[in-house]
Amino acid sequence: MEVLDLPDPRPLIADEVLVEVVAAGVGNWDDIVRTGGWDVGIGPPLALGVEAAGRIVAVGDEVTGVAVGDEVMTHPLPLRGQGAWAELLIAPAALVARRPPNVSWEVAGAFPVPALTADQVLECVSEHVPEGGTLLVHGAGGVTGILLVELAALRGLRVLATAGPSGRERVLAAGAQEVLDYHDASWLQEVRRLSGGGVAAAANAVRGGAAQAVDAVADGGCLVTITSGLPARERDITMVDLYVHPDGDRLAALAALLGEGRLTMSVGASYPLEEAGAGLARAVSGARGGAGVVLP
Ligand SMILES: NC(=O)c1ccc[n+]([C@@H]2O[C@H](COP(=O)([O-])OP(=O)(O)OC[C@H]3O[C@@H](n4cnc5c(N)ncnc54)[C@H](OP(=O)(O)O)[C@@H]3O)[C@@H](O)[C@H]2O)c1
Repeated sequence: MEVLDLPDPRPLIADEVLVEVVAAGVGNWDDIVRTGGWDVGIGPPLALGVEAAGRIVAVGDEVTGVAVGDEVMTHPLPLRGQGAWAELLIAPAALVARRPPNVSWEVAGAFPVPALTADQVLECVSEHVPEGGTLLVHGAGGVTGILLVELAALRGLRVLATAGPSGRERVLAAGAQEVLDYHDASWLQEVRRLSGGGVAAAANAVRGGAAQAVDAVADGGCLVTITSGLPARERDITMVDLYVHPDGDRLAALAALLGEGRLTMSVGASYPLEEAGAGLARAVSGARGGAGVVLP
């Protein structure tokens, strides 16, 4: 990884804004981009980063609704110009959401991808698990996992969750009814017992965890995984391999919940651009509930 002087990416297309980045999220998905597993619209050499918060410093001719000086957050795919670990980031105006004033730059920069992912998982399982129904969140102790639990609880779902001992308290605080230690081999059996034979839906956020999570799902239920690895179809269970997609309107709604304190995010570590590689290494080895942030 190298730090380079980049040219100004202007001119903007009519519906775009230029964001001076203050903080950008670093997740293990950035390593998937780096190694060619996620097409973000531009190829190497590129500044990594698919989410950021910053100030708008220029707007295209047809932009309405946001203006120079506005403080925003965004997940602006496909990228045009460079990724978010750059000083200047191009984003379609429709994909930016205002940063709530009480939300720090670091949190705002790391929020868009995990929040949109969690929201899209909940939307995906909604027809299988009505209000009051039971959802398993497997891998609830992570950055995305906590948001999955919080959003599920806000939707009135009963959440059973897996986490390690260090994540237990924050997963309970996020709204899980029961937290099972995934180091205990009986956790799956316990989920089946607590749910009367199987949950209506499971959300898997554990790498390699989908094959186990499906065993917690009742016949005819639903499994959504955000880490791939879907097992073969079985017992009429709907299975979805979900990849986050940009959505400015939903990001605005999620940002409002964050500003109201109904969603939370903690930052575990911040890195100057020169040390972004260390941030990426931390994300790959597991952020454990505290997001990583690059400060360009
Ligand atoms: N498809 C998409 O669009 C998309 C979007 C966002 C994220 N993701 C992926 O989703 C995964 C999770 O993201 P994240 O942001 O939550 O990561 P993270 O903050 O690094 O958290 C990973 C968590 O996994 C937990 N864990 C590890 N092994 C486990 C196991 N066997 N059972 C249960 N939990 C286990 C750990 O929990 P403890 O701390 O409790 O030990 C850790 O906190 C990553 O692989 C990421 O790439 C995919």
